[in-house]
Amino acid sequence: MTFPATRPRRLRASPGIRRMVRETRLGVDDLLYPMFIADGTGVRNEVPSMPEVFQLSIDEALKEIEEVVELGIPAINLFGVPDHKDLEGKYALDDNGLIQQAVRAIKDKFPDLVVMTDVCFCEWLEHGHCGVVRGESIVNDETLEKLSQMAISHAKAGADIVSPSDMMDGRIQAIRGALDGAGLSEVPIMAYSAKMASAFYGPFRDAAQGAPQFGDRTTYQMDYANGREAIKEALLDIAEAADFVMVKPALAYLDIIWRVRQETHLPVAAYNVSGEYAMLWAAERAGWLELDKTMLETLTAIKRAGADIILTYFAKRAARLLQGN
Ligand code: PBG
Repeated sequence: MTFPATRPRRLRASPGIRRMVRETRLGVDDLLYPMFIADGTGVRNEVPSMPEVFQLSIDEALKEIEEVVELGIPAINLFGVPDHKDLEGKYALDDNGLIQQAVRAIKDKFPDLVVMTDVCFCEWLEHGHCGVVRGESIVNDETLEKLSQMAISHAKAGADIVSPSDMMDGRIQAIRGALDGAGLSEVPIMAYSAKMASAFYGPFRDAAQGAPQFGDRTTYQMDYANGREAIKEALLDIAEAADFVMVKPALAYLDIIWRVRQETHLPVAAYNVSGEYAMLWAAERAGWLELDKTMLETLTAIKRAGADIILTYFAKRAARLLQGN
């Protein structure tokens, strides 16, 4: 064969041909929009390290969700920014608590929107850890009981999916059993399966005000150096009947997304976290990178790596671009 008989550039010659051979298409259906729900009314506080992301009281959140629904984004995830914390997480477990009220208000107005809730205690406990603390340790099995109560309370309020982000051992089995026992066997669980102890969560801790007051999360979140352990975690959650598995963060973990994708037929979610969001915005503001282009490239890469669902603060911005307006 005389060189070059094979010319890959033939399939890049025009926009039409490039469209024909494009392998990965990002769509609005891939997006899940995380939101921060605060106590009070009329609250709309922009998070300093996350441009265009707000802590919103329920009334303000409903306005924002109207836009989310108009853009065709299928699902949201709710984090709480409560005005008081304690050592037991009483407010988090209250059937009339902040998230429970938010879920009811949102489902009432937007019944077709999929509303997922964060099941974790770091935003609700004074010490900012994801579980029950005794001395300096985060106690696993006592936390499972509380997580189960929280999941039941959210599901009873009408949450369509519950999503534990705490990284305690055995929580998927515990929550599944508790939901089933409460007659809530239809409610799926999205498990944060491979959640790394990551510095990319920095801006989230401003947004949700849940930074640990002592120590760090390395005794429960994963060591980011570990790929095989990420697969072990995902397989455990699958064995415990998770309905979705998640990898978090996303951008520095595309290899993990890919490997989890090979291991399961469940839908795989990836969380494009606060630090990944802040990074692109900072470069845009410095005039160093183009935000819209780097955003679409990033989200497409996460999908190409194997994610079916992308949790991203860019959801509205991406949806606007994808819909061509
Ligand atoms: C808390 C939680 C965190 C995030 C989601 N749930 C922070 C943490 O574990 O410290 C991070 C999300 C983000 O950075 O966008 N369990």
